[in-house]
Amino acid sequence: MHILVTGGAGFIGSHTLIELYKAGHTAFVIDNLSNSNREALRRVAEIIGIPEIPFVQADIRDREALEKIFAQNSKIVNGQIVNNFDACIHFAGLKAVGESVEKPLEYYENNMNGTFVLLDVMRKHNCKNIIFSSSATVYGDPAIIPITEECPKGQCTNPYGQTKSMLEQVMTDLQKADPEWNVVLLRYFNPIGAHASGRIGENPNGIPNNLMPYITQVAVGKRERLGVFGNDYPTQDGTGVRDYIHVVDLAAAHVAALQAIERRAGLAIYNIGTGHGYSVLDVVNTFMRVNGVNIPYQIMPRRAGDIATCYCNPAKAERELGWKAQFGLDEMCRDAWNWQKNNPEGY
Ligand code: NAD
Ligand code: WQD
Repeated sequence: MHILVTGGAGFIGSHTLIELYKAGHTAFVIDNLSNSNREALRRVAEIIGIPEIPFVQADIRDREALEKIFAQNSKIVNGQIVNNFDACIHFAGLKAVGESVEKPLEYYENNMNGTFVLLDVMRKHNCKNIIFSSSATVYGDPAIIPITEECPKGQCTNPYGQTKSMLEQVMTDLQKADPEWNVVLLRYFNPIGAHASGRIGENPNGIPNNLMPYITQVAVGKRERLGVFGNDYPTQDGTGVRDYIHVVDLAAAHVAALQAIERRAGLAIYNIGTGHGYSVLDVVNTFMRVNGVNIPYQIMPRRAGDIATCYCNPAKAERELGWKAQFGLDEMCRDAWNWQKNNPEGY
């Protein structure tokens, strides 16, 4: 298939490009590079072994730019112009939870409006297949653990999460109104790790918000110690429990999700996680053991908006897509460190 990849220069997008090409697909990337670097795409091309990844630096809110991309990626069939994209994998969006609380309008505007323009241009060009990066955050404080797709959506505590929840609804309504659409909502749990080559990985701007990039920056000497946000949760050691998933497994889930489009599944929703819950201290201890580095840490107060426990039941993705996570926490910690130590300043 030929896939339009929005946000393809980012953390998950760059890893997904590799898995797409490995499976025989091709891609065209649109990214405004607001949270990524062109170098990531150069390295992706090098790993795949092609001269370059077709790419336009543009904002998905820029309708003209999107129209031009569709025009460039089209062919003439029986005298008619037909768009060449079989599907879109839609990663582009702002994702920092804390920042979204500070700048709600920017988050709503970018994530909502960007997706509206994208969907409208796709519809106009008769490309009605989309895989959307959703998040476990749509479950709020989950009613059921492990979380299945039947678990009701919950109250999101921040504008970022709200955009995911609302965009899921927008695409659900669109598919209901026009059954020609195939909409696959992938609810990611906590993606960490990096490609085994150590050439691409997570490259946050400023102080990392998320656990693993904070740990790797402590390991590389950029930060003094990790703050562990709370040790009084009702979990085995009192620290928060999450379903960490290797980003390469997550990338492969997108390739598997193309099957749902091929068989015209309509609306399909999948949890993408390993099904295992690890605490903050499990991650810290595993990182130290696997990599032989010390991670000083200090217990801090709870972080506002955090929940105690979040992990999924990923059986539906295995049953319907034949997808299952292959990597465990050891590999996630090994590969995250391999990326960070080889690229202490990121790209
Ligand atoms: P990322 O920031 O690395 O990638 C997102 C990419 O989108 C960036 O390259 C950024 O430059 C681009 N972008 C943002 N707004 C854009 C716009 N208006 N036009 C064009 N490009 C734009 O983030 P990621 O971790 O790779 O996440 C990818 C997607 O998955 C996001 O939608 C995110 O919300 C979602 N997600 C991420 C996680 C996670 O923990 N990383 C978890 C669940 C869901
Ligand atoms: C994991 C655990 C923290 C940092 C977020 C978003 C979610 C999704 C994934 C996009 C928690 C603890 C963290 C630190 C810590 N993103 N922690 N010290 O909060 O589960 O999910 O990223 O969709 O929407 O909310 O991930 O990595 O921030 O935290 O103790 O410096 O690590 O309290 O228990 P989270 P995280």
